[in-house]
Amino acid sequence: MDFNLSEEHIMIRDAAREFAHNELLPGVIERDREQKFPKELIKKMGEMGFLGMMTPVEYGGGGMDTISYILVMEELSKIDASASVIVSVNNSLVCYGLNAYGTEAQKQKYLTPLSNGEKLGAFCLSEPEAGSDATSQRTTAMDKGDHYLLNGTKNWITNGGNADYYLVIAQTDKEKKHRGINAFIVEKGWEGFEIGPKEDKLGIRGSDTHSLIFNDVKVPKENRIGEDGLGFKFAMKTLSGGRIGIAAQALGIASGAYELALKYSKERETFGKPIYQHQAIGFKLADMHTEIEAARYLVMKAAWDKDQGKSYDTSSAMAKLYASKVAMDTTVEAVQIHGGNGYVKEYHVERLMRDAKITQIYEGTSEIQKIVISRAITEG
Ligand code: CAA
Repeated sequence: MDFNLSEEHIMIRDAAREFAHNELLPGVIERDREQKFPKELIKKMGEMGFLGMMTPVEYGGGGMDTISYILVMEELSKIDASASVIVSVNNSLVCYGLNAYGTEAQKQKYLTPLSNGEKLGAFCLSEPEAGSDATSQRTTAMDKGDHYLLNGTKNWITNGGNADYYLVIAQTDKEKKHRGINAFIVEKGWEGFEIGPKEDKLGIRGSDTHSLIFNDVKVPKENRIGEDGLGFKFAMKTLSGGRIGIAAQALGIASGAYELALKYSKERETFGKPIYQHQAIGFKLADMHTEIEAARYLVMKAAWDKDQGKSYDTSSAMAKLYASKVAMDTTVEAVQIHGGNGYVKEYHVERLMRDAKITQIYEGTSEIQKIVISRAITEG
């Protein structure tokens, strides 16, 4: 067993770290305050190759492994979790889904611009009545011969207002339940496709979350992904990989908050010494460091499983469940270590605390991860 990163992995991680410090850090407080989508930065992240990291080179991607991807996700998330969720959705939900299940024509037309940073994607599964209970899709796509007619509403869609291409999950045959669900590629601007209001969120405020409304949208038959009825499995498999990205995001939020707290504890003095020398603070730092390391091994293991072609449904759920809890706990403690300063925006930890919460909610709540894990260990 080798716990060392390869030289290539270290180079990728360091490039992401430098990018996060030089490009993401300067405007992060303002973007959070103004709910400002980082359009220019997305372009730069595309140029860095962060948007299609695992897509094969022939389709405009980096042809990298999942370990490289999570190293980048951690570094971006330390500074700006809004930017990192945009990267995560594009990589692990949109590009992965198209690469794994798309036709050659779909890959040429959609995957390539999504991977090389020209276009941005969104993944549309959740609905007002179907969040955790993803089989209860009310959005319908009726087969009309050479096209489907799409009707319904999607909710909480990351990149909702700024994406160019949307992977939309819809019910095509209610009688068949989850086997009557399909996934479709829908382009922004198609007649009947309307972007709903932007959500005003607690955290990841620089990312763009919208509802989407489909009213008799004509989707060409060739835009269905995979064979008829694949949609639910497509969504589940894609989300299994997505959870590795979100676990890495949670790890980044936790390690970002920890690094700030450690630095602050060396600078801030009370009762005549730096606060890290008070055992109350030293013990907190010890717990934070230990829990982050444990989360890191779970995230790495899930990524490794995926890279090795092993099953990663359970390991990704475990990584997300644990890393998101560590993100929440660590950020709360980081605010506490900062005292009153922790409650003030310029110290960054209050934002990380707000950002941490979503990692326990999206791409399956912590309770959903427990369903996946408990089924795996009890039903095999
Ligand atoms: N891979 C492949 N197939 C899978 C699978 C997986 N990981 N998980 C389930 N399936 C298949 C099953 O094999 C089964 O197929 P068959 O009937 O052919 O055997 C079928 O799917 C149904 O499986 P279940 O009976 O297990 O389904 P369920 O209704 O009990 O649901 C669940 C399981 C785990 C609760 C699932 O509904 C789930 O994960 N829900 C959460 C959805 C979610 O994560 N939503 C987040 C929205 S996306 C988002 O947040 C993106 C963003 O913008 C950031």
